[in-house]
Amino acid sequence: MIIDVQAERSYPVIIDSSWKVELAKLLVGRDRAAIIVSEKMESSVKDLPVSEAEVLVFPVPDGESGKSSATLNKIWDWLAAAGFTRSDLIIGIGGGAVTDLAGFAAASWLRGIDWVAIPTTVAGAVDAAIGGKTAINSEYGKNLIGAFHSPSAVIVDVSWFDSLSDRDFAAGMAEVVKTGFISDAKIIELIGKSKISDLRANRTVLIELVTRAIAVKAKVVSSDFKENFDREVLNYGHTLGHAIELHCKYDLRHGECVAIGMAFMAQLQLSLGLITAELAQQHVDILKNLGLPTTYQHQAWPSLLASMYLDKKSRGKTLRLVTIKGIGITDRLENPDEKILLAAYEKVSS
Ligand SMILES: NC(=O)c1ccc[n+]([C@@H]2O[C@H](COP(=O)([O-])OP(=O)(O)OC[C@H]3O[C@@H](n4cnc5c(N)ncnc54)[C@H](O)[C@@H]3O)[C@@H](O)[C@H]2O)c1
Repeated sequence: MIIDVQAERSYPVIIDSSWKVELAKLLVGRDRAAIIVSEKMESSVKDLPVSEAEVLVFPVPDGESGKSSATLNKIWDWLAAAGFTRSDLIIGIGGGAVTDLAGFAAASWLRGIDWVAIPTTVAGAVDAAIGGKTAINSEYGKNLIGAFHSPSAVIVDVSWFDSLSDRDFAAGMAEVVKTGFISDAKIIELIGKSKISDLRANRTVLIELVTRAIAVKAKVVSSDFKENFDREVLNYGHTLGHAIELHCKYDLRHGECVAIGMAFMAQLQLSLGLITAELAQQHVDILKNLGLPTTYQHQAWPSLLASMYLDKKSRGKTLRLVTIKGIGITDRLENPDEKILLAAYEKVSS
C-alpha cells in the first residue's frame, strides 16, 4: 500500500512492506548512503541486502539526547569525511527522535540532500516521519532548530513494533486515536473496546489503523505543508498535552500527555455543548482501554494554564484550542472562559 504526500515535492509512504526490500530498491543508482540509527538499535541494521551503494552506519545517542547540535556536528564531520555529495542519501531508522535528526542532517548538508525515513515506533510511523518537519533540540527547548525538508520516501514496516513496550505502543496509539476523532470515524470504530494486547495480536487491524492514521496526516500536511492553518487540527488534545509534557519534565510519553489532553477536551466540549455525553465518554473509554492515562495532578492547573497560553498554536495572548463538533468535524475555540477550562480540568484531575 502506498500513500502519496504532496509537499515541496511528492513522496510515497510505503506501508506494510519489508523495510530491507524497499530500502534495497531505493539504493539502486546511489553511490553512497548513511544510515542514522540509535546506538541502542544499531544491531537491527546488520545484514542489509547487498547493494551497489556504499552503506555507512552512523550510531547516535538514543532518544532526545541524540537530537542535539553536538550529535549533528558529528554527523556533518562523518558526512564530510565520507565525501557525501548532493546525490548521496541519508536514511533515518528509529523513533521520531532519530528521524527528526536524520531529516535535519539531510536538510542542512549541502543545502539539502535526499533522505528516507524508516520509522520504528508507532508514533514515528503515524506522526513524526510524515510531514517534512525535521529538527534538533536546543538547551532552550525542544525542536527549536529545524527545517521543513520532506523525505523522498517513508517506509513503514509494522514488524518493527513487535519489540516496543506496551507503554510505547500505547503512546503511539494515542496519535492514532486523535486522527480518528479529527477525521476518520472508522479508526474509532476499529479500535472499539480493544486493549493494547488485542491490537498487537491483530496485524490486519493494526495495519489498517496505521494506514488510516497516515492517510489523515498525509491529507492534512498535503493541504498545509508549512503549518499555516489546516495543519493545526493535528493539535487536537495537544495544547494541554504539551503543557503536561513540560510540567512532568517529560516523564510521561508525548502520547500519554496527548491522551490526557483529549480527555480534557472531551469534558470541555461537553460542557460547551459541542459534543454529546456519549462522545465524551467514548474519548475516555477508548483511551483507558488502551491503558493510556486520562487524568493528571489537580494542583498543576495554574502552571498548565500558563503554558497553554504559550503553546505554539496560541497567538499573542490568545489561547486557541482545536475542537470537534462530532467525529471528523473540527473547529477552533479562542479564549474560552478560564472558569470553564478549570471546570473541565477538574473532571480529569486527580
Ligand atoms: N517531525 C514531526 O512532525 C514530529 C511529530 C511528532 C513527534 N516528533 C518527535 O518525535 C520524537 C518522539 O518520537 P517517538 O515517540 O518515536 O520516541 P523516540 O524516538 O524517543 O523513541 C522512544 C524509544 O523507543 C526506542 N525504540 C524505537 N524503536 C523501537 C523498536 N522498534 N523497538 C524497541 N524500542 C524502540 C528508542 O530507542 C527510544 O528509546 C520527539 O523527538 C518528537 O519531537 C516529531
